[in-house]
Amino acid sequence: MARLAALVVVLASVAAGCRSQTNHPSSDAGVEAGDGALPGMLLPPADAGRATARGVDAAVDPVAQLARGKLLYGRYCNFCHGDTGAGYAADQAPALGNDDLLTVATDEYLRDAIVKGRPGTTMSAWSVIRGGPLGYDDAEAIVAHLRTWQKRPSVSTADRKANGNAERGATLFATHCASCHGAKGKNGKYGALANAELLASATDGFLATTIEHGRAGTPMQAFGTKLTPEQVDDVVTLLRSWQQAPEEPAPLPPKPGALTNVVLNPRGPQPAFEAKTDFIKVDLVKAEVDRHATMIIVDARPPSDYARMHIAGAISVPFYQVETFSKEIPKDRYVLTYCACPHAESVKVRDALRGLGYPRVAVIDEGILAWRDRGYPVRGGAKP
Ligand code: HEC
Ligand code: HEC
Repeated sequence: MARLAALVVVLASVAAGCRSQTNHPSSDAGVEAGDGALPGMLLPPADAGRATARGVDAAVDPVAQLARGKLLYGRYCNFCHGDTGAGYAADQAPALGNDDLLTVATDEYLRDAIVKGRPGTTMSAWSVIRGGPLGYDDAEAIVAHLRTWQKRPSVSTADRKANGNAERGATLFATHCASCHGAKGKNGKYGALANAELLASATDGFLATTIEHGRAGTPMQAFGTKLTPEQVDDVVTLLRSWQQAPEEPAPLPPKPGALTNVVLNPRGPQPAFEAKTDFIKVDLVKAEVDRHATMIIVDARPPSDYARMHIAGAISVPFYQVETFSKEIPKDRYVLTYCACPHAESVKVRDALRGLGYPRVAVIDEGILAWRDRGYPVRGGAKP
């Protein structure tokens, strides 16, 4: 019964999706198929997604699409956003199974968030074009899976435009919002609002409605009773004043088979890390790097994050490709893994490597953001 209800929702969203699918792919949607599909599974051909992307009314089998969306969500998303979208399984990952999000977010909005990510946060860009594992049709399938959590019908917020006053908005923001979202919409406890990718895909109506209704069950309360519609417009106008063009994606690290400089300090002494430990503090790692100790440092995040910033000397081994990359990673060195979450993805890589017989693997405890904040060396681009 629940399954049937879910299917009806999916059919509804597929139908709704077809109407809005005439004008993409956007620059990033990509018509490439991802490697998201597990081999041997009965999945719709990758071409289905391509045809849809060209606006042809392709026969997407909704049952298969849903199965695929669920599978991919379980592989790439649930450890941060929760199995049922409750959110906060890892720091700051919002509730995706929340009606206040799902009823105002269009399929495009959700897909954009998945393929482009939110640079500067732990939400990676997952599209093939940005080095991630997901093709356009994979992202569509995940959106279909998210839609099964939606209870109320979607509302259109497209017509609402904010023509407020950013100065008044700044005063309101300082009073009502800065404590959680940071003084300038950055570096707060919760979601970065001054985020180029968020502001590029969120309409005024999406922002205004989110501010008015909040997100039930999360710390984001409804401000509709505290602020007048004009004041909400003032705040949205302030958010718009923070909008900048999204960054150009940086050059991506090597794909499997092309790793170089895997070992840091190949001729150095062994590091003074305990042989059997799960986590090692950043300060100790830095001390051993300074001593030119030999080790392998592995960035566990999707490649787009590595390309933007990684620990100097680290190689890119996304948490979902450990087995493939392991053929190029020797077992005779100490291996350290890290991410930004700070543990969700790095622990997956550590455990996968241990499962493959690596004797000495540990996680850099506080992750890359703490490393960077201490002024330790980081760099962007394709090379370690
Ligand atoms: C007590 C903390 C708190 C305060 C105060 C707060 N927010 Fe939020 N806000 C959150 C959280 C947490 C979320 C993410 C909720 C979720 O979806 O899980 C959020 C989400 C949002 C979003 C959606 C962002 C996205 O990525 O979809 C917007 C827009 C927003 N807040 C604007 C505001 C504005 C404007 C104010 C002030 C009027 C404000 N918030 C005040 C905690 C807060
Ligand atoms: C490492 C943790 C992590 C993983 C893995 C992750 N996300 Fe996120 N996601 C986040 C965080 C954190 C944010 C909020 C970023 C911000 O705006 O501050 C977010 C934001 C989002 C948003 C925007 C929500 C909103 O309120 O606007 C969507 C949609 C989303 N993620 C979907 C996904 C999907 C689908 C996957 C799997 C392909 C995924 N995420 C994987 C951490 C994660």
